[in-house]
Amino acid sequence: MTPTPVAAPLELPCGTTLKNRLVKSSTSEGLATPSGGPSNQHLDLYRRWAHGGSGLVVTGGVMVDSEHRGEPGSVVVTDDRHLDMLRSWATAGTVNDTHLWMQLNHPGKQSPRSMNKYPVAPSAVPMAGRIGRYFADPRELTISDIDLIVWRFAYTALIARETGFTGVQIQAGHGYLINQFLSPADNLRTDEYGGDLEGRMRLLVEVYRAVRKKVGDDFPVSVRINASDGVPGGFGEEESLQVAQKLAELGVDVIEVSGGTYATPLMLGDEVDATGDTGEIFFGDQARRVREAVDVPVLVTGGFRCASDVEKGLEDGLGDLIGMARPMVLIPELANDIIVHGDRERVRLPRLTTHIESLDEHSESLVGISWYEMQMDRITDGRAIGGDGLAALWFAAKRHGVRAMFPRR
Ligand SMILES: Cc1cc2nc3c(=O)[nH]c(=O)nc-3n(C[C@H](O)[C@H](O)[C@H](O)COP(=O)(O)O)c2cc1C
Repeated sequence: MTPTPVAAPLELPCGTTLKNRLVKSSTSEGLATPSGGPSNQHLDLYRRWAHGGSGLVVTGGVMVDSEHRGEPGSVVVTDDRHLDMLRSWATAGTVNDTHLWMQLNHPGKQSPRSMNKYPVAPSAVPMAGRIGRYFADPRELTISDIDLIVWRFAYTALIARETGFTGVQIQAGHGYLINQFLSPADNLRTDEYGGDLEGRMRLLVEVYRAVRKKVGDDFPVSVRINASDGVPGGFGEEESLQVAQKLAELGVDVIEVSGGTYATPLMLGDEVDATGDTGEIFFGDQARRVREAVDVPVLVTGGFRCASDVEKGLEDGLGDLIGMARPMVLIPELANDIIVHGDRERVRLPRLTTHIESLDEHSESLVGISWYEMQMDRITDGRAIGGDGLAALWFAAKRHGVRAMFPRR
């Protein structure tokens, strides 16, 4: 029997095959130990997602430098300190023939003041917008700093491979360091890492090449890029297409298309509707353009809420793979449901509120992110989804202290 489009396996350029077209996209878990190691909760959470049926699960952002973390509770992999737990995490997350790819990230200047007094960036351009006050002004990276960062990405990728992760994803979007280099609004450098797109893309190209060299040609390497930063004068669709073409030329296995930064959180959907459920697929048109321009599998994430969204996305050529993040936090078995039962009710994201208007207005993205982290925590010990926005803020404060109280994503 021919599998339905969503159940069809996909062979990647490196020769590996994903068992179907559904992906649990990256969501930072906030579950790491104080020293940045994976915890037993990671094992429970990722085992559950692996049994949930997606062909691929991407981890929350793993930091490649312990001095530079994007948010509290992220895993940090810089040396051989947590190898046993990393192995256990990879084992738990790859049951049921699931691929588990580690997302590699360096936040650059998107590292809040409460965690990092000395952030770095391509140029000494402060964080824009009303969230700027939560971030210290960054220092411009030197060439030798950049060389070290390239090496760090590659080294973390090597540890991922050696501990049993079945692939890696380089985070080059969402306003983090590599994205800052790509952006003409953030990158004012006049050396070989700035200027035209070739210069601004140099860090990404070097990171990709260094990672590929360490993990080998038979190991999946994906890159997540922005369709657009949504910032005037920032990285936009034409340049995003050119970056995708360059990555394809270099031999990337999957390009994931997303968008936005902390200041312009497009990756979470329409700001007007805090549920992010407008019925629109985020970045669908750009993902289709990328797919038409390159001969590499494209993964599109954002706004998919039910089997027919997924089927239509594949049919309309928006992507070869369809990513879901919040719906799979709410329903870890959603991929099985979609593949086995086909259409079912649309997953409705809750409209989150603390019931205190000024608090909601001030911290919409913080409430949202904290609420989803609280649900990931609940999944690990089998509790049902629950709690409101205020409970989520309380949860984040208890877990991470005041460091958690700043806008995220
Ligand atoms: C709680 C939370 C944490 C997230 N963490 C990450 C992350 O670590 N790395 C990343 O690339 N995207 C992250 N994202 C963005 C998601 O991968 C995804 O792009 C976004 O939620 C839109 O997809 P959805 O509509 O299916 O939820 C996060 C989103 C949420 C809600």
